[in-house]
Parts: sequence; C-alpha cells; structure tokens
Amino acid sequence: MDLATETATLGSRRPAEMDAPDQGATARPAAPLVARAVLAGIGGYLPRTVVSNDELARTVDTSDAWVRERTGILQRHIAEPHETCAYMATRAAAAALADAGAVAGDVDAIILATATPDQAFPATALRVQAALGCGGFGFDLSAACSGFIYALSVADGMIRARQARGVLVIGSEVYSRIMNWRDRGTCVLFGDGAGAVFLTAGAGRGGGGDRGILSTHLHADGRLGDILYVDGAVGRADRPGHLVMQGKEVFRHAVVRLAAAVDEALAANGMSHSSVDWLVPHQANMRIVDAIAKRLHLPVERVVVTIDRHANTSAASIPLAMMEAHQDGRLRPGQVLLLSALGGGLTWGSALIRL
Ligand code: ACO
Repeated sequence: MDLATETATLGSRRPAEMDAPDQGATARPAAPLVARAVLAGIGGYLPRTVVSNDELARTVDTSDAWVRERTGILQRHIAEPHETCAYMATRAAAAALADAGAVAGDVDAIILATATPDQAFPATALRVQAALGCGGFGFDLSAACSGFIYALSVADGMIRARQARGVLVIGSEVYSRIMNWRDRGTCVLFGDGAGAVFLTAGAGRGGGGDRGILSTHLHADGRLGDILYVDGAVGRADRPGHLVMQGKEVFRHAVVRLAAAVDEALAANGMSHSSVDWLVPHQANMRIVDAIAKRLHLPVERVVVTIDRHANTSAASIPLAMMEAHQDGRLRPGQVLLLSALGGGLTWGSALIRL
C-alpha cells in the first residue's frame, strides 16, 4: 500500500467506461476464487479546524485537566459548514482508492457507516458514489461507534459471497452537529472526521494466501439503548436530536464487553494474545483502551492511539487510526490487526485482519 493523502484528486483516474450509468457488480463474471476480503488501501480526512480543550473551556464549564485526565483527549477536529458527512467521506474514499492503486471502476459497492448522514435519503454512500464516479451499489449503515466494524463485516460477507470484488468501507461522522454544546459530560468527548478502506477479493487459505479479514464478530443488545442515544431524527420532528449518554454505564459495559470480544476473536482463529501485532480500538476513552490492552497483555506501544488528537470520531475512529499507523510506517504486510469497538445500541464487535 502506498498511502495517498486526502488531497487525492477526485475522479482524476476515472476511466471512460465509468460514464456508463450502471456497472452493477452482480453483472460481472464471478471471480474464479474468492475466499477473503483483502485490505488494499486506507485513507482518511480530518477537518482543518482544530479545537483544544482550553478553547472549549471558554464556552463550556470544563478544563483541560479534567478532559485530559478522564479521557486522554487533548483536542478534536470540528467540521466547517461545507464539511459534511458526504464531503469528508468522498475525500477519505478517494485517498483509500489512490492508496490501493485502484480507480473508480474497481469499486463494486460502497458501505458507509454513519449516524450523521447529509440527508435521510438518498444514502450518503450514493453521494460518494456520484462524486467519485463509481458504479455498482451502495448504502448507509447505522451502528453508532461500532459502525465501521459492522460495515467491514458486511463487506467481507459480500466479497466471500462473490457479490462484489471491490468494496469501499467508510466511516464518516460530524458529531459536532448532534452535540448538546451545553452538556459538558458529552460535548468534550467527540470530534469530526472520516476514514475509509478499500477491500478487494483475494485468495484465502484455500487459495494459498493468508491475507485479509480473518474474522468479524458482531453483537448488539437493544435493551441498553437508553444509556447512549440521540434523542431525535428526521422521523421525529418533535425531538431536537442531541446525543445523550450515561457515561459511567457506557464505560462499565465497554470494558466488560470489549474484553470478551477480543478474547472471542482470538479464540475463533486459534490465536493467542501474542499473535496480535496491533490493537486498533475505537477511540472513546484512553482508560477503556488501556483496559483492553491490559487484557491482551499488549504494551501501549502496540496499540494505535489517536484519541489525544482526534477525540471520539465514532464510526470514523478506527479507519482514521489505521490510516495514521499506515502513514507513519507502523503497518507492515503480514501483520495481524485486532479491531474492536462499542457504541450506541448498544452495539459492539471485533475484526481480525492480516495485512
Ligand atoms: N468537565 C468538568 N467536569 C465534568 C465534565 C467536564 N467535561 N463532565 C462531567 N464532569 C463532572 C460531573 O458533573 C461530575 O461532577 P460531580 O461529581 O460534581 O457530580 C464529575 O465530573 C464526575 O462525572 P462522571 O460522569 O462520573 O465522570 P466519569 O469519571 O464517569 O467520566 C466520561 C465521564 C469521561 C464520559 C466516562 O464515563 C466515559 O468515558 N464513558 C464512556 C464513553 C464512551 O465510551 N462512549 C462510547 C462510545 S460513544 C458512541 O457510541 C456514540
């Protein structure tokens, strides 16, 4: 992978045949051997505007010391009005394609995980499709902070089922638009951004290769929907639509359930803690990340951490962390990444990937 930056020129590599309106994935001949979704490229986008804890403390009753000590967050990126979910997702996706050396015509499907879409419909994924000039199909997926892992799992299933050979998986969020900026218990925790990966069909174990998504495990418990939620949506015009959280409860569930999820992923693959080269957790709170790393007996140097600079970017946090580790050369072919996330729903899960 040769990582490109978010400045990748949109559509500059768009082949002429992509002018055809429908490049339906199902119309393509099935690949001779498709066993596994291989990670071919990673990209991301962060808004230029950065807000420090001290700057927030000018408008909210908080302090840099409180936020830093309780969460590990030092700053967050906040979207300008033009930086919508689609805008950021398009740039992250273009960077992932460029990183993979792929073009729009290689994309059969776009799965975009978000809780903050531009519109109720069409799906933001299709705004991205149009901007990039891709064919195939696309849809949005809602699983809050676990959205990227859910989307990865769906993409993996589609590739294994030969429904698609090239899938863009994107997490893009503008939580700044659903914050209650008077609630210091939540507004200090979140930031905006987008991350994307491009998955391609590759030969799995049966085909002599060993790279790709080894497993995904998804979980949800709708009975816990009231400890972390947004109190409105376009279907509820009577509600303002702000994020509400019982922080302590979420924290408690996160530590217990994520610890179980990482054990489950390793057991399913017959691996031990020492097989993991990098833990790439959802970046919600440094104390949760530390607890999971301890469970895996992983030193903090083997955990990809961005929460200090990005804060919690929900579905975007894992691909943004992957992008950073890729960009600075930490990720190498053959390494094993363990991804884990928990979010509103509650939803949680894991993915194990060999690069
Ligand atoms: N600045 C200063 N003081 C604050 C702030 C703040 N920003 N926020 C809360 N406080 C105060 C509270 O009012 C309280 O004061 P009191 O004792 O006088 O009543 C005190 O600090 C302690 O508050 P707690 O909520 O008990 O603090 P806690 O140690 O639990 O930390 C936190 C709160 C950081 C939110 C933590 O519970 C947490 O990280 N929870 C998990 C969040 C998470 O993982 N979310 C999941 C993903 S999000 C998604 O899916 C959309």
